[in-house]
Amino acid sequence: MVTTPLLPSDYLDLVSPLRSGADLRGRIEAVHPETGDAATIVIRPGRGWRGHTAGQYVRIGVDVDGVRLWRAYSITSPTDRQDGRVTITVKAIPDGKVSNHLVRRAKPGTLIQLDQPTGDFVLPPAKPAKVLYLTAGSGITPVMGMLRDTEFDDVVMVHCAPRPQDVIFRSELHDLVADRKLRLTEVHTDTDGKLDIARLDELVPDWAERETWACGPTGLLDAAEEHWTEYGVQERLHTERFRAGIVVTGDGGEVTFSATGKTVDADGATPLLDVGEEAGVLMPSGCRMGICFGCVTPLKAGAVRDLRTGEITEAEPGVLIQTCVSAAAGPCDIER
Ligand SMILES: Cc1cc2nc3c(=O)[nH]c(=O)nc-3n(C[C@H](O)[C@H](O)[C@H](O)COP(=O)(O)OP(=O)(O)OC[C@H]3O[C@@H](n4cnc5c(N)ncnc54)[C@H](O)[C@@H]3O)c2cc1C
Ligand code: FES
Repeated sequence: MVTTPLLPSDYLDLVSPLRSGADLRGRIEAVHPETGDAATIVIRPGRGWRGHTAGQYVRIGVDVDGVRLWRAYSITSPTDRQDGRVTITVKAIPDGKVSNHLVRRAKPGTLIQLDQPTGDFVLPPAKPAKVLYLTAGSGITPVMGMLRDTEFDDVVMVHCAPRPQDVIFRSELHDLVADRKLRLTEVHTDTDGKLDIARLDELVPDWAERETWACGPTGLLDAAEEHWTEYGVQERLHTERFRAGIVVTGDGGEVTFSATGKTVDADGATPLLDVGEEAGVLMPSGCRMGICFGCVTPLKAGAVRDLRTGEITEAEPGVLIQTCVSAAAGPCDIER
């Protein structure tokens, strides 16, 4: 009664935000620039943190201009880091709200929300004899978590970035090469052009025999999946995507967020999650690419299109949609 309307836990949050039993949080303890547009964020997780498996990602909730935004980031620290801290490494993308905030404005001492780590882009329990890591840009992050965690006898990496100075973790990678723990080919796309997947025959002649983990932009991953399938070795390829492959768009419509009382016009290509956030509606979210179901919301009226498949979902009682991969297909009403 004394603390009403706040709960005693709200006061405890002020003095001990990382205590066990509180919503899982973390404190940013340091920000280390990696390249001109990427930085590693060192986080001390709160007591409920269950630890991760190399290659997994964590969802973090960050306050940007007073709005809590959730994004997923691969964990780049090894699983046995002695000081209990974890790192994520973020590349700022043009107009990116959270990535620019983390890379350019995040300050040590800042509290963030954390989820438990998750994801199945991980190494198998039994060590494969030969490994290939195929990465581009910020797609190197989950693989760096693996490289720092587990040594293999025979590991090759092909990494693409515009220029040498854009290669995240470059000096650490070259240390591994000098120690004969890694064979590395850098493809500098500004001078060499985009990697033609057929070049793997020349860069890594035994690529088809290698257990492969690939992470990078959609174009690279689509080409890899096609190539591995063509050679009948698709079960050796493991991929991690940072965004959903949007393949279809259509006509949009007027979107009503009935709980908030807002109505906006939306095109048929923009996910309803972005439409809602842009309109100032509180939208739950997670991976923002259709895998975590953190954004599901009842569709009260109208129809939406799944941007990955083109499938139309029409409103009926109990129908839920993933707002991160659904766009308006005519007028619709979303229960937010
Ligand atoms: C499983 C998983 C792991 C991830 N790990 C990492 C990581 O380790 N490091 C890292 O830097 N990022 C990672 N990401 C991407 C990250 O979650 C965000 O999508 C990214 O930081 C952009 O967020 P933003 O708020 O800056 O951009 P937003 O403000 O959401 O978007 C700004 C613009 O950029 C476009 N956009 C959104 N995401 C991307 C993207 N990934 N690439 C290119 N354009 C995009 C949007 O369509 C929009 O036009 C991961 C994503 C997933 C799903
Ligand atoms: S936010 Fe993860 S499925 Fe939509």
